[in-house]
Amino acid sequence: MTENTPSVLLTGGAGYIGSHTFVALAEAGYQPVILDDFSNSHPAVLERLAQLTGRRVPCEKGNVLDTAFVAEVLQRHRCVAAVHFAGVKAVGESVQQPLMYYRNNVSGLLSLLEAMAGTTACRSVVFSSSATVYGNPASVPIDEGFPCAPESPYAQSKLMCENILASLRASDPSWRTGVLRYFNPVGAHPTGLIGEDPSGIPNNLMPFVTQVAVGKRARLQVFGSDYPTPDGTGVRDYLHVSDLADGHVAAVQALLAKGESFTVNLGTGQGTSVLGVVRAFERASGRPIPFEFAPRRAGDVAQYFADVSLARGVLGWRATRGIEEMCRDSWHWQQRNPDGYRTQTSDTAMHMPAPVRNSPNGPMRPVVSA
Ligand SMILES: NC(=O)c1ccc[n+]([C@@H]2O[C@H](COP(=O)([O-])OP(=O)(O)OC[C@H]3O[C@@H](n4cnc5c(N)ncnc54)[C@H](O)[C@@H]3O)[C@@H](O)[C@H]2O)c1
Repeated sequence: MTENTPSVLLTGGAGYIGSHTFVALAEAGYQPVILDDFSNSHPAVLERLAQLTGRRVPCEKGNVLDTAFVAEVLQRHRCVAAVHFAGVKAVGESVQQPLMYYRNNVSGLLSLLEAMAGTTACRSVVFSSSATVYGNPASVPIDEGFPCAPESPYAQSKLMCENILASLRASDPSWRTGVLRYFNPVGAHPTGLIGEDPSGIPNNLMPFVTQVAVGKRARLQVFGSDYPTPDGTGVRDYLHVSDLADGHVAAVQALLAKGESFTVNLGTGQGTSVLGVVRAFERASGRPIPFEFAPRRAGDVAQYFADVSLARGVLGWRATRGIEEMCRDSWHWQQRNPDGYRTQTSDTAMHMPAPVRNSPNGPMRPVVSA
């Protein structure tokens, strides 16, 4: 890393997807800079990132809604692009607390864009959108031309953000925006040093399965066994978080190189059923996953998977890891960190890569600014 290494701001960079993207951007020759208020992440992730990358981890603690703070961070680090992960993400919670969702997700993006507008160099932004913007699609695979019909305040907030970015592009073509509609990110870094660390009862299938595997929860509830799918359970497009992180690197590179804006799906293009995940996880872990069938949940659809040809064409990116690797790496993370980042690090330390001595990037300690 040199003085000229381009810095990229990662709002929400201490979270699940942001932390994996930190590693991928560092490996691709960028200096990622985290801005996070740690409302849904743990500061211990910074030490793990330092271990993984062998370099300092710049982290600015604060709220993305504080526009002056974000502007100051962008200027001080001379960021050339931003990736906006910060936000809240639980569909069910968004139905209960819509105002909190619109404030955090919509006002959060507005704040970042206003801060960027005050800088001269930073007009490229990658946005974490979601496949939930499609609502209940008429068919699968889902391509980017499908109509958007969000069904929750969370999904609405994502579509509103996409529309804000479109208006901004229309007003000033110097803005370059990359909208990434994620399908179902799962898995963890293969070292087991970073991974998904949900607080409370997990909303998503994979963390629930891993918690059943370690005995934290007695059994998995499988919602719906009579869908028109090969085994009757719901089919989703699971995507390894490392592939997703690589997709962000491709998105940043595409914006900085070609300058063209895009909206693309990030998924594998393959659907896997709930029972397919359970079986793959049992193979990966060698442990049985007890489960019971429960009635379908309102709003769930039978099948949901992406057409990924646009991402391949625009970004030259495609997912390379399959469901076996997703389960293996989720299990590895869970085993080594039964309490997530709150796990005492003595066990984890045994599995950490050897420290890089005399690193040209300075001490491998996180740099946290309050
Ligand atoms: N994980 C998924 O399944 C999924 C799917 C589709 C889209 N997304 C989107 O991707 C993004 C990242 O998701 P994730 O799974 O990494 O979530 P996460 O909760 O692990 O990470 C989000 C990070 O943002 C931080 N944050 C939240 N509000 C903030 C604020 N106002 N100011 C500063 N920091 C703030 C949190 O502390 C956390 O570290 C989110 O925008 C989410 O909606 C996630």
